[in-house]
Amino acid sequence: MKKVKVNLGRDSYEVRIGAGALARTGNWLKEIGLTGRLVVITNPVVDGLYGEALREGLAGEGFEVTVVLVPDGEEHKSLETAGRLYYELTDLYAERHTPVLALGGGVIGDLAGFVAATYSRGVPLVHVPTTLLAQVDSSIGGKVAVDHGRLKNKVGVFYQPRLVITDIGTLSTLDAGQFANGLAEAVKSAVIWDGDFFSLMEDNLEGIKSLEDGILEEVVFRSARIKAGVVEKDEKDLGLRSILNFGHTVGHALETVSAFAVCHGEAVAMGMMAAARISNRMGILDKGELDRLGSLLERAGLPTGLPALPAGELIGAMKHDKKVFAGQVRFVLPRSIGEVFITDEVSLSLVEDVLGGR
Ligand code: NAD
Ligand code: GLY
Repeated sequence: MKKVKVNLGRDSYEVRIGAGALARTGNWLKEIGLTGRLVVITNPVVDGLYGEALREGLAGEGFEVTVVLVPDGEEHKSLETAGRLYYELTDLYAERHTPVLALGGGVIGDLAGFVAATYSRGVPLVHVPTTLLAQVDSSIGGKVAVDHGRLKNKVGVFYQPRLVITDIGTLSTLDAGQFANGLAEAVKSAVIWDGDFFSLMEDNLEGIKSLEDGILEEVVFRSARIKAGVVEKDEKDLGLRSILNFGHTVGHALETVSAFAVCHGEAVAMGMMAAARISNRMGILDKGELDRLGSLLERAGLPTGLPALPAGELIGAMKHDKKVFAGQVRFVLPRSIGEVFITDEVSLSLVEDVLGGR
């Protein structure tokens, strides 16, 4: 079992990572002073897989557990679902000290986190992430939000959990696409912050993909540590935290222009490659490093070339994205594997060339 501490003064908390963590939930909640009744928010898929193990881990320590189900899917990460959950919590007589546990992937984490942050001006939140993406990224750092129509993550707040319980055993039931989604974010973490971690993934990718406990735990741990380190320096996303968007400038545009036919992990992988090519063309990132990134992503089963989408439309989508400041598209570019920088000074003609495969 490994631990990452997220140091945010009075809002500090731990991420506890390991196989079998679910069974220890009750014990750990008591350790941080949570007792009595609690509400688990999850979806039917995750509940069917891991609800019982979690309930057993809680009941053994005397918790009274109510499970509230939300249908599976991003479309339910909405104000409407949040509204229904406020009624459910009220009907359960949930009080300001009644903890909410978010059991699931990033959708459940964002939604249940948003509800926990806003119900009665905030109740204790515990994340129990069950996708690789949620374990390496979304459960850490306190961004919680719902979508509003086409406005993704537009309605949200910063609200830190009291604890993150990361059971890597839950990753065994993810399909290959969902696993690759998370792997793309782990590669992102390594490129922005830790060249040794990148080498570790290069050396052990087959073990990671075949879910060998030791190396998988290390990947989740290192990614969580990087995210925690960035969030500690810039909790409210005023500067440094935007490096976590490496690969997402082009990535989000690919998702939008393809009407989400390109899934998130694939979009981030292609976006990271586009950013790396831009940096290489600007004379900053070495060709050898660009090739290393491409090779690791390909071995991870992620795409590195760009789909045939009009470069003009992609640039249009980037300009509508939140990563635009005073009309300039803001990029996070790699200087080397393990170090990135933020810039508003990438010429749009270079971006167009790279997106057009020139
Ligand atoms: P998701 O939550 O939709 O989960 C993907 C699918 O896997 C779902 O069908 C889910 O039911 C299923 N699932 C979950 N755990 C499983 C398991 N162990 N075994 C089998 N199936 C399982 O998707 P995601 O990729 O985890 O998260 C995406 C969301 O995360 C997006 O809404 C995105 O905006 C958000 N996000 C938030 C942050 C943040 O900092 N808050 C960061 C990145 C992404
Ligand atoms: N996933 C981006 C962030 O947490 O800031």
